[in-house]
Amino acid sequence: MKTIITTSRLVLREMTQKDYPALSLILQDTQTMYAYEGAFNNIETQEWLDKMLARYKTDGFGLWAVILKNTKEMIGQTGLTYQSVYDDKVLEIGYLFNRKYWGNGYATEAAIACKEYAFGKLNASEVYSIIRDTNVASMNVAIRNGMLIRTRFIKHYRNMDMPHFAFSVRNKQ
Ligand SMILES: CC(C)(COP(=O)(O)OP(=O)(O)OC[C@H]1O[C@@H](n2cnc3c(N)ncnc32)[C@H](O)[C@@H]1OP(=O)(O)O)[C@@H](O)C(=O)NCCC(=O)NCCS
Repeated sequence: MKTIITTSRLVLREMTQKDYPALSLILQDTQTMYAYEGAFNNIETQEWLDKMLARYKTDGFGLWAVILKNTKEMIGQTGLTYQSVYDDKVLEIGYLFNRKYWGNGYATEAAIACKEYAFGKLNASEVYSIIRDTNVASMNVAIRNGMLIRTRFIKHYRNMDMPHFAFSVRNKQ
């Protein structure tokens, strides 16, 4: 398994098919997926995983599995993907965690590490987090990651128009 980033409490590594059960606990939980307009079914979960495995090959990154060092359990996903803001292609830090592990600072720890990876290893000048306008917990992670709101736009997802904020932080180096 390919380890990408290590932090004090976490390891971020590429997902594999073996992560499907842990991924289902995240993507098939209604409360976790409220900002995505509801839980995924088995087919949607497999499609999500397939998309990440393809992104590792085409882009060299994607959403990675977040492993708790103490227990070796996969507790979430955090990573980098290309997304669109209007007509711009931007590098985005995304994060989704198993509800059992919310409220421990793990998402912020992983998101900060991804920002440092984007600036340090990918030479990115700016990274975004694109967040539905109702998703306060996610906005707080972006704020703790040093981001500011740059624009509000409508994202079309699951046949719905959803207002989103584009948060970003710029590399000052
Ligand atoms: C977005 C999401 C990842 C945020 O998770 P989270 O657990 O709230 O965020 P963090 O990991 O940064 O944890 C922060 C909390 O941990 C607390 N905390 C406890 N111990 C901590 C520690 N050692 N270090 C830092 N924070 C700690 C903080 O005080 C904070 O609590 P508060 O929100 O009550 O102030 C989570 O809500 C989620 O998975 N949502 C569903 C998926 C989703 O919508 N993803 C975003 C799509 S844009």
